Amino acid sequence: MQFHGSHILSVEQFGLTDLSVLFQNAAKLEPVARGELACNVLDGALLGNLFFEPSTRTRMSFDAAFCRLGGRVCDTTGFQFSSMAKGESNHDASRVISGYVDIMVVRHPQMGSVKEFADASLVPVINAGDGPGEHPSQALLDLYTMLKELKRDLTTINGLRVAMVGDLRFGRTVHSLAKLLSLFKGIHFHLVSPAELRMPADIVDFLRARGHTVKETTDLIAGVANCEVIYATRIQEERFESVDEAQRFKGSYAINRAFFDHYCDPKAILMHPLPRDNRSESCELNNDLNNHSQLAIFRQTDNGIVVRMAMFALVMGMQDQIDASLRPVGFKKKLIAV
Ligand code: NCD
Repeated sequence: MQFHGSHILSVEQFGLTDLSVLFQNAAKLEPVARGELACNVLDGALLGNLFFEPSTRTRMSFDAAFCRLGGRVCDTTGFQFSSMAKGESNHDASRVISGYVDIMVVRHPQMGSVKEFADASLVPVINAGDGPGEHPSQALLDLYTMLKELKRDLTTINGLRVAMVGDLRFGRTVHSLAKLLSLFKGIHFHLVSPAELRMPADIVDFLRARGHTVKETTDLIAGVANCEVIYATRIQEERFESVDEAQRFKGSYAINRAFFDHYCDPKAILMHPLPRDNRSESCELNNDLNNHSQLAIFRQTDNGIVVRMAMFALVMGMQDQIDASLRPVGFKKKLIAV
């Protein structure tokens, strides 16, 4: 694909060459994300960050990524304080805001809505989650994390054994990740969910049609066995008719340290798009795993910044200027050990 000037709406847009370009740029930007070097390739550019659904890390990491490249950000959150509360359409909101900024990031509760923004926009739009649809930047940072954690690359990830656990019906991160992994060969997908929350059939068919092995099960122990990656997800309670309906699925697949030590490959990595639901009835990944070497969730969020920085640099057509723009920072950052 051509990144420069393109909307990023679905992982289906990417091929292996695109991933290679994206990840090479992301790796180059790691010292910038850590605050060790500065980069100003987006000097003068303005991002419109539009989040109509709750978000902490996605919104802030897109924001931080743009600022780390020297750009500036203006944003709006929720419907209540936006003109959508007055009945404005996605079309009108998008056309208007796209006249103010150079690129937009949009999260919205309805599937397909971010494409509506893209269709009306004068500038590129990045999908930061459209209801239960897709979340492409999350899938990209998840794949980047898997490669780093497993010390593999785009040519040696074939045959990966990955368990996706939890709410596979409404979880957009697993929809995008499964489709992205289908670019490789012979992936073994272990899809672990309650019967009511299975991965949508069209995605399962898509994976099988590309020659991958897909096992669907309700049994966590059988599902995680021999997997190299265990990707846990939150029950997406906001997508259920009622909180009570969601409640009955919570805690079905709680993984704690004892479970990991007993049933998982000791070299398996534990991932989660976050937020974890830390309430006692849920605990997809228990706090007793917090210091476990195989818990990759915070390295995963750290990787989110570099992948989003690389995305911005490419979509704004500035990747060739990165090397020349790197320079020392004017402050001394001291990390506190935790
Ligand atoms: C996810 C999302 O919003 O889809 N969060 C995120 O962006 N990292 C997952 C979730 O909310 O459970």
